[in-house]
Amino acid sequence: MKKKIAVFGAFGQLGVELCAELERRGYQVCAFERAKLDVTSAEQVERAIAEIDPFAVFNAAAYNMVDVAEREPLAALEANGLAVRNLALACRQSDARLVHFSTDYVFDGTLGRSYVETDAVHPLGAYAVSKLVGELYAQAYSERAIIARTSGVFGVGALKTARGNFPETMLRLAKSGKPLRVVEDHVASPTYAPALASRSIDLLEKNLSGVFHIGGGEAISWFDYAKLIFEKAGLDVEVQPTNEREYRTAARRPKFSALDNARMRECGIQPMPPLADTVAAYLADRG
Ligand SMILES: NC(=O)c1ccc[n+]([C@@H]2O[C@H](COP(=O)([O-])OP(=O)(O)OC[C@H]3O[C@@H](n4cnc5c(N)ncnc54)[C@H](OP(=O)(O)O)[C@@H]3O)[C@@H](O)[C@H]2O)c1
Repeated sequence: MKKKIAVFGAFGQLGVELCAELERRGYQVCAFERAKLDVTSAEQVERAIAEIDPFAVFNAAAYNMVDVAEREPLAALEANGLAVRNLALACRQSDARLVHFSTDYVFDGTLGRSYVETDAVHPLGAYAVSKLVGELYAQAYSERAIIARTSGVFGVGALKTARGNFPETMLRLAKSGKPLRVVEDHVASPTYAPALASRSIDLLEKNLSGVFHIGGGEAISWFDYAKLIFEKAGLDVEVQPTNEREYRTAARRPKFSALDNARMRECGIQPMPPLADTVAAYLADRG
């Protein structure tokens, strides 16, 4: 009999890739998108997990509006923090493994090098605090939880959401024909959703637990990343550098939050593919 796995947030960038990869690997996937199940409802979460009795639960649901969260911190906390408590408690009751996703924004970006799993956290805003709360709840109730921190996720699931992702924003803005201004003083590790999905399943299949970084494997500024996207798309777009002083946002963001996938390496998980290859794969996927 196929092992059952529940996926929450199944229609997001990561969720669609998790469902596809889990099915490819022979699991029976029970997928829940937001319209079917709201993870902030303890009752809905508990009922769904008790009924399915899954071997594992992947939580790809998240409130990701980093700037809006500064106006509505409670909404961010409910979806990214308290909802993880609901999931972790339900997993404990059903003896299911929990695989939860977090963010590079738990760090303040002042270290000057890519972050490893053991570096001290210091979130800078409401979204980041809410994600850290989620990590703590996952660990509080589920000793064997996997917490995968990632960064700048991009996947074709974004084509169906209002929020989109960075490559889609760049490609849309490029249509204006005007030069684009992109911050060059913020560095992250953009992560291709299919590679993130497959590595997180590898962690579960290797029976690992604890905090892991699954970043795209390359530290790059948003400015250089934008140029890479246009190069791979074969578009001649003028990209000009700007910085956080000129481009103000409601939420403070870490300046250098690239992730070093140190534990993944130590545990023998396949390294992430080169960023240039994943950008090319993304552009091919989106058609
Ligand atoms: N995207 C990034 O750049 C980024 C960076 C670092 C870390 N991460 C983390 O990586 C994980 C995957 O992110 P992603 O990029 O796949 O996000 P995404 O594309 O925004 O997908 C998140 C999904 O969660 C759903 N959702 C939101 N609130 C929900 C609720 N209360 N109940 C059920 N579903 C809910 C959303 O539905 P609606 O569309 O209907 O709201 C959406 O389908 C998340 O943990 C995220 O925090 C993402």
